[in-house]
Amino acid sequence: MATAELRGAHTFNFDPFNAHRDDPHTPLRKARREHPVFFSPALGTWVITRHADVVAALRDPARFSSANAITNVPAAPPPEILEVLAAGIPYEPNSVDLDPPRHTKFRALINQAFTPRRIHAKQPTITALAHAAIEGFAHAGTADLVAEFAYPLPARVIADLLGIPSEDLPAFKRWSDEWLVMIGQIGDLDRQRKAAAAVVEFQHYIAAMIAARRTRPSEGLVSDVVAAVQDMPDPPSDNALVGLLMTVLFAGHETTTSLITNTIKLLLQHPEALAQVRADAELIPAAITETLRFDPPVPNMYRTTTADVRVGGVDLPAGEHLRLSFASANRDAACFADPDRFDLHRADKANHLAFGQGIHACVGAALAQLEARVSVQALLERLPGLRLVEGALIEPVVSATVRGTRRLMLAWDRQ
Ligand code: HEM
Repeated sequence: MATAELRGAHTFNFDPFNAHRDDPHTPLRKARREHPVFFSPALGTWVITRHADVVAALRDPARFSSANAITNVPAAPPPEILEVLAAGIPYEPNSVDLDPPRHTKFRALINQAFTPRRIHAKQPTITALAHAAIEGFAHAGTADLVAEFAYPLPARVIADLLGIPSEDLPAFKRWSDEWLVMIGQIGDLDRQRKAAAAVVEFQHYIAAMIAARRTRPSEGLVSDVVAAVQDMPDPPSDNALVGLLMTVLFAGHETTTSLITNTIKLLLQHPEALAQVRADAELIPAAITETLRFDPPVPNMYRTTTADVRVGGVDLPAGEHLRLSFASANRDAACFADPDRFDLHRADKANHLAFGQGIHACVGAALAQLEARVSVQALLERLPGLRLVEGALIEPVVSATVRGTRRLMLAWDRQ
């Protein structure tokens, strides 16, 4: 069957950017039952909805390539933006969008920064950062959790991880904000041009940091990576290292913002679960795991078929772009009992796919969960009577790979 005909035969209406932005779960539930593998004209990709099929694709990188793993439909920025970016450092695939054997080399470089011992050692820093942030707004009695806490905290943690000196933190914050504007193609062309110029500055800053760490090693991932590549027989280029370090920032920032926000939001929306967590702080990790299952910050990643494959009963040719829906797999009744119920005590919650699986499984999973645990504990301890503001706008932010909440207005009892 010709590709167009095949797509036509398996079309299903799913548009998470518009019609199904607020509730992607209703169409996905129907799809799991009736069209477990379908083509979405709105997305321009195939969507894989069942847990078993998503796992099979994640576990088979030879036939499901990670090229374009983070893009919905590969689309270059407009020429005006490309012109600005030409003054920067050309992008080279570096980890999440590479297949073995090249992926293996980059993965080894970052793995060393995320060992359990190193992550555990970050706990005092993260705790201090969380409490300092809360100190800044606790007196107000009300705040937007995203702007005041959940957005800045992970950026500070990553800056610490990379070894960014404290005097450069304001610039670092601006660069990471502008990067999201550019990637999200937010605002008019002038706005995006300004954002692209900031990204170029950021690239040169990272490149200069790589060069400096070569002669003056110090603490942090940049220094570790520079030291590790010196011993490699065929080391990656500096341009690829800039891309790798920016990937770490991108992969670990908004995703963690979303995990912190979603956990607080779901607890406040489920008073029974909140009461259980308040009574026993040991349940906070269970609340975080159940949030990852119920409302994953990265609801999907993408793969491209490299050969003819059969998925969920559909024969797909080589070269098709697939969206692996973790959000759908995490609600698959074949894997989770009563999947639409938020339940801290469910035995099956750890089978979620929020961090992927296989060779690309999230390298920052332990760090993200540590940040979320410390944050939830500090927020519940320091903000008594924490509650959602009546009629709080809970507007989803949806990008090609991240789903979160734009604002989360909270109130608490001032002391
Ligand atoms: C709740 C927070 C997070 C979520 C939900 C998340 C989710 C994911 C997922 C689903 C993947 C797999 C991608 C694929 O299979 O194509 C991934 C990979 C990755 N994540 Fe995370 N992530 C989070 C936090 C972090 C943090 C804090 C960092 C680092 C500071 C990080 C760094 C990475 C990197 C570098 C990769 C690529 C690994 C590779 O390709 O081998 N992530 N993440």
